[in-house]
Amino acid sequence: MIEVVCIEHPVASNLLVHLRNKRTTYYNFRQNLDRLSYILAVYCLAHLNGKKVKIDTPLSPAKGIITIDKVILVPVLRAGIGLVKGFLDLYPKAVVSHIGIYREESTLKPVRYYFKYPKFKNKKNLFTIVLDPMIATGGSMIDTINALKEIGLKNIFVASLLCAPEGINAISREFPGKNIKIRIFTFSIDKNLNKKGYIMPGLGDAGDRYFGT
Ligand code: PRP
Ligand code: URA
Repeated sequence: MIEVVCIEHPVASNLLVHLRNKRTTYYNFRQNLDRLSYILAVYCLAHLNGKKVKIDTPLSPAKGIITIDKVILVPVLRAGIGLVKGFLDLYPKAVVSHIGIYREESTLKPVRYYFKYPKFKNKKNLFTIVLDPMIATGGSMIDTINALKEIGLKNIFVASLLCAPEGINAISREFPGKNIKIRIFTFSIDKNLNKKGYIMPGLGDAGDRYFGT
């Protein structure tokens, strides 16, 4: 079962305009993507579970809430690396578990070449967030979610900049049941995919633009 949250925020909107603009240099692209990662982090991490604690301020006893979940960030190489900064700055205790996938150019099918997720006996308080700026055909995200499902995860968050409706529909078809819950946070569901599998209007190739390749 999937839920899609389309974040509307004036600051995000400004930053997205810069990213979409083809005249933006790779170093400004990187800077603005880093900034957007903080906004995604705030929205995703709002769902962390907490417990009540008592502490003493210098003046008085006080009550508060601290988070109890173990956060695992799963950036999809390469472009997912661009979303890590905001999450780690706001939640330094997070573990980073990379997954390497690229789209084969002619078939657009995902090819997985790397995956390292830590071993946990108790999966109860794991809070897993997949980071990938682009969901186009949805193939890379489906492969990532299947890798996480295989290790027993049933509750997965996804942080993404832009999605194509085709990708969202494909993920929804792949995971229809209630045995897995996927929550996708994004800034926009764009118009469609072009013949080469690029999101339209999109922002081009996120990895190339972020890394300057
Ligand atoms: C991009 C992007 C996603 C994927 C989305 O990666 O970061 O992982 O394409 O496309 P899909 O939804 O059709 O699978 P890419 O394959 O370009 O690899 P890169 O990050 O190494 O450049
Ligand atoms: N990957 C990208 O980086 N951009 C797209 O538009 C589609 C896939």
